[in-house]
Amino acid sequence: MHHASEPDSPAPTEPFESLDPAARLAAVLGALAPWPEDGSRPDGPVAVDATDRLLLDEAAPLLADAGPDDVVVIGDRFGALTLGALTLGPSRVRSFTDAVTAEAALDHHLSADLADLVRGGRREVHLVRADLYTEASHLLAGARLVLLQLPPSLAELTEIAEAVARYAADDVVVLAGGRVKHMTRSMNEVLAASFTDVRATLARQKSRALVATGVRPEARDAAPAFPARAVLRDRELLAAAAPSGGTSPADVTVAAHGGVFAGTTLDLGTRFLLTTAEKWPGADRVHDAVDLGSGSGLLATVLALRYPDARVVGTDRSAAAVASTQATAEANGVGGRVVALRGDAGEDLEPASADLILLNPPFHDRTAVRTDAAHRMFRAAGRALRQGGELWCVFNTALHYREALTRAAGPTVHVAQNPKFTVTRSRRR
Ligand SMILES: C[S@@+](CC[C@H](N)C(=O)[O-])C[C@H]1O[C@@H](n2cnc3c(N)ncnc32)[C@H](O)[C@@H]1O
Repeated sequence: MHHASEPDSPAPTEPFESLDPAARLAAVLGALAPWPEDGSRPDGPVAVDATDRLLLDEAAPLLADAGPDDVVVIGDRFGALTLGALTLGPSRVRSFTDAVTAEAALDHHLSADLADLVRGGRREVHLVRADLYTEASHLLAGARLVLLQLPPSLAELTEIAEAVARYAADDVVVLAGGRVKHMTRSMNEVLAASFTDVRATLARQKSRALVATGVRPEARDAAPAFPARAVLRDRELLAAAAPSGGTSPADVTVAAHGGVFAGTTLDLGTRFLLTTAEKWPGADRVHDAVDLGSGSGLLATVLALRYPDARVVGTDRSAAAVASTQATAEANGVGGRVVALRGDAGEDLEPASADLILLNPPFHDRTAVRTDAAHRMFRAAGRALRQGGELWCVFNTALHYREALTRAAGPTVHVAQNPKFTVTRSRRR
């Protein structure tokens, strides 16, 4: 297990039961590490940021009085908020976080050593996971305290606020925190659309929390704004979706939850990848196809439309992307042949199971920190391709991925280039 190099407080030597919750919290937070990151990069994320600490301090009196059905944590990064809430509060906390990697971090931290600390004198603590997009009522029904790391996009915040207003108790308190530099007035406005009172706490160590209370009656019954839908008629999209010898669909519908990359629009890189569709393998060679890092799932749907006999997997680490990929496929009548999976960098793909993989890899983490996700996706694609199978990848030309793709997936050629993007084809030997 990884430990932070300099824990905030020394590991306790007294039995955990005799430590008060604040002391246990300090020990728990001190033991968290960014995971699976190794924490060695100077620009890397920290396991517990000032926002986590501010939110837990603001929440402490409420947590102390909370019951087992009261507390929900959304958007936890490495487990600090969830483990903190369990340490200071009730023995059961509900939790949702978009990225499967954040979930893995929480699981990792709830492993034996920390579980004892979190539990203190209690017999058991329970972490209940539920998906905001497919199980919102399970996640939020009757909640009285929601701790939230503010998401980067207003659309994602809107979707969260609407779900809380729809399902939580009337007296719910939402504590939503972020780094001051990432916070805007529009976030207050988004919360104010669902709650009657929104105020900000004082900033502390460059973090601030918004406190939203008073569910608006009209927000309880409002029709959900997400997944948002749009009908796309982009030429490249329709042409790529045409099966060999068949005609293009008149349009393609995209469904996108708030947190999804590019929302309901067609990303420029994705559009450029679609212009190469004529050169993708023929239908006789494609039985299993993959949209790796599927986002809204437009590529998964194009694959299912273009190859009417193929099975298609869309995989993404984001729960919003997984739900959107499935919804987009269903909206275009191919839901039965598209399976959306949640996994980190394609690690969930079966070895030697795919004939064609399309990839528009991420180049930034949600917090604008560079990641190695693209390289891990190349390796996962290499493993997942059958012999002779092809990985088609689009990326910013400046990234020079050809050698890495060759190493990871097989001999790679540049197929198309415009001033901004390059499309490559890698073929598995
Ligand atoms: C550039 S977007 C492409 C989305 C979609 N394929 C499209 O063309 O619009 C990259 C996608 O990779 C996903 N992603 C980022 N890091 C990931 C990881 N470690 N594992 C799996 N997916 C990841 C993001 O959630 C995002 O949906």
